[in-house]
Amino acid sequence: MITVHVPLGDRSYDVFVGHGARRELAALLPTTAKRAAIVTQAGIPVRVELGIPSETFVIGDGEHHKSLATIETLCRGFAGMGLTRNDVVIGVGGGMVTDVAGFAASVWHRGIPVVHVSTTLLGMVDAAIGGKTGVNLEAVDGVGGKNLVGAYWQPSGVICDLDALSTLSSRELRCGRGEMAKYHFLTGDDLLAMAEPERIARCVQIKAEVVAGDEREGGRRALLNYGHTLAHALEIETEYEIAHGEAVGVGLIYAAHLARRLGRIGDARVQQHYDVVEGAYELDGSLPPGLHPQQLVRLMGLDKKVLDGGLTFVLDSDRGVEVVKGVSPEAALAALADMG
Ligand code: GLY
Repeated sequence: MITVHVPLGDRSYDVFVGHGARRELAALLPTTAKRAAIVTQAGIPVRVELGIPSETFVIGDGEHHKSLATIETLCRGFAGMGLTRNDVVIGVGGGMVTDVAGFAASVWHRGIPVVHVSTTLLGMVDAAIGGKTGVNLEAVDGVGGKNLVGAYWQPSGVICDLDALSTLSSRELRCGRGEMAKYHFLTGDDLLAMAEPERIARCVQIKAEVVAGDEREGGRRALLNYGHTLAHALEIETEYEIAHGEAVGVGLIYAAHLARRLGRIGDARVQQHYDVVEGAYELDGSLPPGLHPQQLVRLMGLDKKVLDGGLTFVLDSDRGVEVVKGVSPEAALAALADMG
């Protein structure tokens, strides 16, 4: 078992990474908890043993269910079982479940403890760590969007049981590898030289270090969005036909081309992006066919990570990845064309 500490003062917690890590769960529960509300989805293969009474709430699958309506249903369920501030919510599932369970915990009685049991690779290396929780705001009259309503609410602990990985579909694994690929460019570590448990734990540790330095994304945490500016545009433009992790793989290749266009990196570094994304992780780094480059650039300008308007990207350089503001639409378009 590898334990990664997320150092956040009195909100610090541990992440347990390893085969059979779910057996650490009971020890992670707050000592005050007399009952637990387990939030999960149908088909999640991980069963948890808590040692305290619990009720299980099964939320729907798909972005449509990542909604305020689901939060209301959960809160009604919590009320029905008499869940108090001393008790605990347990999110058992992938990123959608832990985002929703975390947000429900953050608002129930103005905030009660939550523990995440992450069952997907993407959740383990990203979504379950760092305290971002939230739901989508369903579009009414064209106004709405993904993850627009949420809270920073750190879990009391996170379990990454690697046994769950053997139950994932190849697409779910691909999505996790898209998020993992970005970590290759956030530090100088040779992640490919590591065995899978160590590599996953190192991704968690990199994220923990970034979050510890900038919990509320005032600066450095934005680097975790490497590859995400185009990825978000692709998700919107394909109406989520392309999944998040797949889109991040394409976004990383794009970010490399854009950095080369701007004279920040050379051909060899662009090739390293291909080697990781397409070579090591067997992701498709090319743009999905039939999309309009101008429309993608327009959507990238609307990305909610954009700090001051205009086109903002996280881009590589010989100093490492950095937030780069004020990229011209011409350069953004040209880099799309460079992808072939
Ligand atoms: N997924 C990026 C972050 O947690 O900041």
